[in-house]
Amino acid sequence: MTATSQPASSNSTSSAASETAGIGVDLSSEDQILVLDFGGQTAQLITRRVREENVFCQLVRHNLSVDRIREINPKGIILSGGPDSVYGEGAPQPDPEIFNLGIPVLGICYGMQLACLSQGSHVKPGESREFGLAVCKAKGDNPLFRDIPAESRVWMSHGDQVENLSESFNSIATTETCPHAAVQHKSKEIYGLQFHPEVTHTELGGQLLRNFVRGICGCKGTWKIESLIDREAAAIRERVGTGRVICGLSGGVDSSVVAALLYKAIGDQLSCIFVDNGLLRKGEADQVREHFGDHFKTDLHVADARKLFLDGLAGETDPQKKRKIIGKLFIDVFKEEALSIPDSRFLAQGTLYPDVIESGASPDGPAATIKAHHNVGGLPEELGFELIEPLRDFFKDEVRQMGVALGLPEHLVWRHPFPGPGLAVRCLGEVTEERLVILREADAIVIEELHRANLYREISQAFAALLPIQSVGVMGDARTYESTIVVRAVTTTDFMTADWFRMPHDVLQRISTRITNSVRGVNRVVYDCSSKPPSTIEWE
Ligand code: XMP
Repeated sequence: MTATSQPASSNSTSSAASETAGIGVDLSSEDQILVLDFGGQTAQLITRRVREENVFCQLVRHNLSVDRIREINPKGIILSGGPDSVYGEGAPQPDPEIFNLGIPVLGICYGMQLACLSQGSHVKPGESREFGLAVCKAKGDNPLFRDIPAESRVWMSHGDQVENLSESFNSIATTETCPHAAVQHKSKEIYGLQFHPEVTHTELGGQLLRNFVRGICGCKGTWKIESLIDREAAAIRERVGTGRVICGLSGGVDSSVVAALLYKAIGDQLSCIFVDNGLLRKGEADQVREHFGDHFKTDLHVADARKLFLDGLAGETDPQKKRKIIGKLFIDVFKEEALSIPDSRFLAQGTLYPDVIESGASPDGPAATIKAHHNVGGLPEELGFELIEPLRDFFKDEVRQMGVALGLPEHLVWRHPFPGPGLAVRCLGEVTEERLVILREADAIVIEELHRANLYREISQAFAALLPIQSVGVMGDARTYESTIVVRAVTTTDFMTADWFRMPHDVLQRISTRITNSVRGVNRVVYDCSSKPPSTIEWE
């Protein structure tokens, strides 16, 4: 991909593009694929697609030495895309010996150009960028294109492309503008794809990656998410030793999985803090007490800060400022609570990969900040704690699988994600107690009706938002001038893109009727039919 953002490396237990693999865990018996990170926005997505094939896969820095690669002993190497041009000054290069290791290599986009260049081909600097769908025509029989029809749609996103293919390669697929859309080395196991098999727009991308990792690399496909838990738990134990870890609970899936993972890793060295900011969904605070106080019996500290947050937000309508206020207050309250817990040294957070990339938290690149996610950055420095983010490399659905394997209750694991700033970003305009009551009740109805219609699991995220506008209605014989609730429901696999859910009309009708009948102050319900992009999932 041509975008500039790159996964941040941090002092998390398993940061993206970590230098080494297998932190404290013997992986010798596990098949694995390494993805060398050349800075492409979808580099981490490649690792996740490979893990979907039940093959362990991780992102490592682009110039990992061949000695280290030999030690790790991967079954295959994938070179990610990247924003650079291969001839550019300082363009990231792999250790040139990776092509002589006898380990299959698949180069994607920039990675393909590197592979071709290293074997004597020429790369044509792009006069213009090609971005979007193209029809890929496969030429004849080839292990990479096994079970792929002669024509299929692929996603292109590149400037440069391979021009004079060296004698040592065969061109195995073309698109209208790209004569070498896929290549295969004649004597070595080196393959290249100019398009991106990892994005869902490439309709048979999963099959292509499967062909590479299962077919060409010979991975068995027996890896399970449980191994990831053991691996992360071992990494946490090694890192924290006998230290105390504080984990902020939000009521959502991510922080619950982190807490359960930490509980498994270090038991009573874990203290959980739950800040009741008054911006939670109906019944949520009680459920946190139930799960982590009664069921898991962690050392649970609940800070009742409802009034403080409401006072802090009074009069504010700007979305980014609301987030900032909440972020700051959260730190204040959390800090006070955390400092009351003696001997704590580490702070665990449930940051996921999409949070990292959307916050532009790149050490090297000025990636665009789309929203100020308050759970990335800031907090540990404020508190003087070391940060632990065991989910930082993973996507939501992978985290859910970990939750199930850790024994969290189904309804919690499958709960739709909920943003850190809570209902404040769904209460457009000023956040007041009265407006929160309206929103909470409407939201509970939406969720209840989706469960009743058996649609909750089919939808990735659904909620109500309260708009800052009033409109005219009629109730009985009287004119009303009241608020509007918008119902949002999306499907997505990675939350980086999303489609709006085609909600059956009878369900919409029940939701609408119940809200307008029972939630005082609402006379209109609308349904949001926008995808991401160009919209985002949340309204603020
Ligand atoms: P957007 O609205 O950016 O949301 O498409 C993508 C996913 O992220 C969640 N989200 C947040 N989560 N802190 C969080 O922990 C935040 O500030 C935040 N903002 C959005 C959102 O609910 C969706 O699942």
